[in-house]
Amino acid sequence: MGKLWGGRFDKGTNRFIEEYTESISFDQRLFKEDIKGSIAHCRMLIKQGIIPEEEGKKIISALEEILKEAEEKGIPCDPSYEDIHTYIESRLREKVGDIAGKLHTARSRNDQIVLDVKLYMKREIAQIISLIEELQKNLVKKAEEEIDTILPGFTHLQHAQPVSLAFHLLAYFWMLERDRGRFKDALKRLDENPLGSCALAGTALPIDRFYTTELLGFEKPTENAMDTVSNRDFILEFLSTAGIAMINLSRLCEEMVIWSSPEFSFVELSDEVCTGSSIMPQKKNPDVAELTRGKVGRVIGNLVSLLVTLKGLPLSYNRDLQEDKEPLFDTADTLKGALKAVSLMIEGAKFNRERMRLMAKEGFTEATDLADYLVKKGIPFREAHRIIGEIVKYCIANSKRLDELSLTEYKKFCQEFEEDLYKAIDIENVVDSRKSYGGTSRTLLKEQIERIKKERGWQKG
Ligand code: ARG
Repeated sequence: MGKLWGGRFDKGTNRFIEEYTESISFDQRLFKEDIKGSIAHCRMLIKQGIIPEEEGKKIISALEEILKEAEEKGIPCDPSYEDIHTYIESRLREKVGDIAGKLHTARSRNDQIVLDVKLYMKREIAQIISLIEELQKNLVKKAEEEIDTILPGFTHLQHAQPVSLAFHLLAYFWMLERDRGRFKDALKRLDENPLGSCALAGTALPIDRFYTTELLGFEKPTENAMDTVSNRDFILEFLSTAGIAMINLSRLCEEMVIWSSPEFSFVELSDEVCTGSSIMPQKKNPDVAELTRGKVGRVIGNLVSLLVTLKGLPLSYNRDLQEDKEPLFDTADTLKGALKAVSLMIEGAKFNRERMRLMAKEGFTEATDLADYLVKKGIPFREAHRIIGEIVKYCIANSKRLDELSLTEYKKFCQEFEEDLYKAIDIENVVDSRKSYGGTSRTLLKEQIERIKKERGWQKG
């Protein structure tokens, strides 16, 4: 296979070096974007009178044929093709002969590869955003079903205050909402057309970058050709954003691992997302949750890998930049897989309502409310805190819960206690009284769920 750049070379490339330097084994997944970019470029060359219309049209229909062929048969993984751009140009030459050489007028692989990657990322990010939305929808659906389920809210993994399970699930909705926002943001920033930057400095030929911008559906052309061919920070932004999203998923997964343990027994994951053990017949393991937690490692690794590759690179294009693609592809695949898997896991999760309610009453989770009760009777909070602390100590010593003490016992600690204290520490009341904006009161949660459903158009189904 003749190199695109063979003219000034006497010797062919060493076979091993061809293998060492090739990227076709992984950049072939950009073939659609590469062809789409070439067609837009060719249309622009025709419009500007840089190549004759007749020849340009032949090139375009041959490119369309190549696209079809590649979709049907795939791309041969031959390292002598070097990269996807070379492969497509050589196929073009086989189809239209020497005029194939006109396509690369006013273009370099340096702007071509940035274009391909940006087009690929626009598609991937759109998919990731809709997978995030799918998971959010499942969380909201579960939240709606579990609004009356009460469980202990934790701090330090110790029982803190009772909350609605809907509240806990919606916490993940809002976490994902920020991930969704970050991806939308990343999409906005990368939405600039690199085509026409050429090798690094633009071109003396009369190209029209605004026209290709329109054809390819970008917001605007990039402003500086040298920056354009060197820029990979839009990939870094994607990798960081994906890293944060994976970490958020991993936290949800960690909770599912803990909650599905017999000690917690808060959730039963569906058989569809679990596996068994080859030796212990009783086992049902939360593999999806564990693997998602585990896959964070490679996603963070991919981010670190590109950060280090870019550090200290002089302008403009350097071949080091070829190392951007494998981490990018791996992260996009991993995140999409994780979002789908976690969505399935949440969809099939069965929460153990009785167990959660039982545990919500353990660990003196109403203690804060009891202190607030005294505050309402005019006792300073610090003083109330001390009194309740002593009552808790008394309960521990006598193996009693707060709702099991008699009014006489309460009065020994403080004269202000009256019969209505029991209402104040009733578990439902404790949850519903937290009406401060963003609190766990079921009225607020119902309103929030309705608002989300309305905004997203999820009312039906
Ligand atoms: N395979 C190359 C990459 O991924 C494409 C650009 C090559 N440009 C060059 N001047 N060798 O970065």
